[in-house]
Amino acid sequence: MTKSKHSQNKDPGRILVICAPGLSSLLADELRGLGYKPIVCREKGVELAGDMADALKLNMHLRTGLYVLFLLKEFRCDNADELYRHASEIEWERIIPQDGYVSIVSRVDNPSINNTMYPNLKLKDAIVDRMQLKCGARPDSGPDKHRVVVNLYWQGNKTWIYLNTSGNKLSDRGYRKLPHKAPLQETLAAGIVLSSEYDGSQPLVLPMCGSGTLAIEAALIALNRPGGLLRTNYSFMHTVDYDKKVWDDLRYAARKASRKELAAPIIATDIDPQAVEAAKKNALTAGVEHLIDFDVCDFAETTIPDMPGIVILNPEYGQRMGEIAALEKTYGRIGDFFKQRCAGYTGYIFTGNMDLAKKVGLRTSRKIPFYNGSIECRLLRYEMYTGTRKAKYNNDAE
Ligand SMILES: C[S@@+](CC[C@H](N)C(=O)[O-])C[C@H]1O[C@@H](n2cnc3c(N)ncnc32)[C@H](O)[C@@H]1O
Repeated sequence: MTKSKHSQNKDPGRILVICAPGLSSLLADELRGLGYKPIVCREKGVELAGDMADALKLNMHLRTGLYVLFLLKEFRCDNADELYRHASEIEWERIIPQDGYVSIVSRVDNPSINNTMYPNLKLKDAIVDRMQLKCGARPDSGPDKHRVVVNLYWQGNKTWIYLNTSGNKLSDRGYRKLPHKAPLQETLAAGIVLSSEYDGSQPLVLPMCGSGTLAIEAALIALNRPGGLLRTNYSFMHTVDYDKKVWDDLRYAARKASRKELAAPIIATDIDPQAVEAAKKNALTAGVEHLIDFDVCDFAETTIPDMPGIVILNPEYGQRMGEIAALEKTYGRIGDFFKQRCAGYTGYIFTGNMDLAKKVGLRTSRKIPFYNGSIECRLLRYEMYTGTRKAKYNNDAE
């Protein structure tokens, strides 16, 4: 893949990585860690300079990004006819195979448009009409995101057309065959683990592991194994100038740089045997099951290694009153568990219910904001000191 083929704007080109709200500063950190300079950091994405080879690298390595979009064209546009004209100028025949397939995703906020499907249709027409004219054949189109995907953003009179190089969300890493109850999105789980400052050198304890998302993402981080190694299909693989060797080289380099063993244990437990069964199967698919110590038990009975580490719990937040009363007790017990069993550890609770969090009864040293879908959540950090520096706690509202 070369930059000149796709970029009709600047050299080397521009990339927008989309993420879930609340994850963009972690995403920007990840980008810096990969040697990129974020240009603009928004609530749901980060922009940077890069070409298609960079887009492939980002699809491989990012843990918190959802889609890697490569800018094809940016223009002013007041109505659907202008959209058609501008979109017809993009060299689609150099991007989409004649016998290929394209899916269009659009977000439109323009006063001339009251049916949001209409710009979608206009863009599709621009693509297939141009290809019919240039090649005498046209690709199929529809909702399937497994092949070429094009994103249209049209806000006021500003319009951007991107090649969505990922296709399906990057959070669909391919390992979660059994979701069990209320699983975290993989990118959010990675964001939680990265925010806990876990780097694989210290024990990580995950009571209430559910379907194992936090444990699996943590194992991948500890092994320096990118989530992209697990997935077999990306939108960029269906473009005209996809160079399989570039991707194979990225895969080879990522494999070579990843470790085979953990430096410190990861312990994942849940009271529900079916959750642990699902977590084990998911971890097996991710290739990390043999590295995680799974157990079925109440969170308070979880084995805590005798050296400083990190413990993360993602309890239910509860919706009905009866549930809330039971959960108040559970959150209170988490406070006791932290105080009595986790000296020397940094504890985290990921929750969307701050009233329940007050029942923990310990002072937080940090409250990191996140969203789980549309629910505003916090990752609450608690320091559990050893010896004379006892766990700090107060019974006031946190
Ligand atoms: C919100 S889910 C965790 C989801 C998980 N983070 C994932 O991505 O799949 C909460 C989990 O806590 C477990 N749980 C509830 N009460 C528990 C207890 N007393 N001890 C251990 N686990 C418990 C539930 O079985 C459930 O799997």
